[in-house]
Amino acid sequence: MSIEKAYNSWANQYDTNKNRTRDLDQTATIETLSNYEFENVLELGCGTGKNTNWLLKKANHIVGIDFSEEMMAKAKEKITSKKVTFKKADLNENWDIDNNCVDLITSSLTLEHIKDLDHVFSEANKKLKKNGLFFISELHPFKQYSGSKARYETESGTQELEVYIHHISDYIENANNNGLKLVEIKEWFDKKNENELPRLISFVFKK
Ligand SMILES: C[S@@+](CC[C@H](N)C(=O)[O-])C[C@H]1O[C@@H](n2cnc3c(N)ncnc32)[C@H](O)[C@@H]1O
Repeated sequence: MSIEKAYNSWANQYDTNKNRTRDLDQTATIETLSNYEFENVLELGCGTGKNTNWLLKKANHIVGIDFSEEMMAKAKEKITSKKVTFKKADLNENWDIDNNCVDLITSSLTLEHIKDLDHVFSEANKKLKKNGLFFISELHPFKQYSGSKARYETESGTQELEVYIHHISDYIENANNNGLKLVEIKEWFDKKNENELPRLISFVFKK
């Protein structure tokens, strides 16, 4: 099943299923981005708007991009603010957003589905203003090495999604190659399992 179709069918349960990765990402996003100021935000893979709602507390304008109509339909049910625009688009194509116009790009739990990180960082560089930030929160590659990937339960069994492994060095090299410098990197662990593999990794890059 294509990634887009899988998210369309996951959408109904995405917000309500037990999902430690989703919940820890929310913590990572809020804890990290509370330390930064931003007004114009581009949210990649906004999904059901889990993080959009919190970003709205600080931002004046947010564009959320996602290729799953059903995930975004859930976001639109929750978020009616005129400050937010949702756009259906594939991140593997060129992003239909003005250049040099946003001061923050965020991407949570989305880049594991994107093979070509160079394209993402190249587009991010074009869309960011000077000194703009790119926040990424992803399933930690150590978890990916151990076989973890986006998945959900259906009546006919577990549906696993197509994913690509990105090493820590892949993020940093692709960012550097596209004019973005690492400002912050952090590993996020499940609260009760701090001796186990980190669940998430987050980065803040700056243009
Ligand atoms: C795991 S969900 C994360 C949603 C949200 N960021 C969150 O943290 O709850 C991944 C999202 O990325 C979107 N996505 C994956 N690949 C994409 C692509 N190539 N273009 C646009 N959206 C994509 C999916 O449709 C899905 O909504």
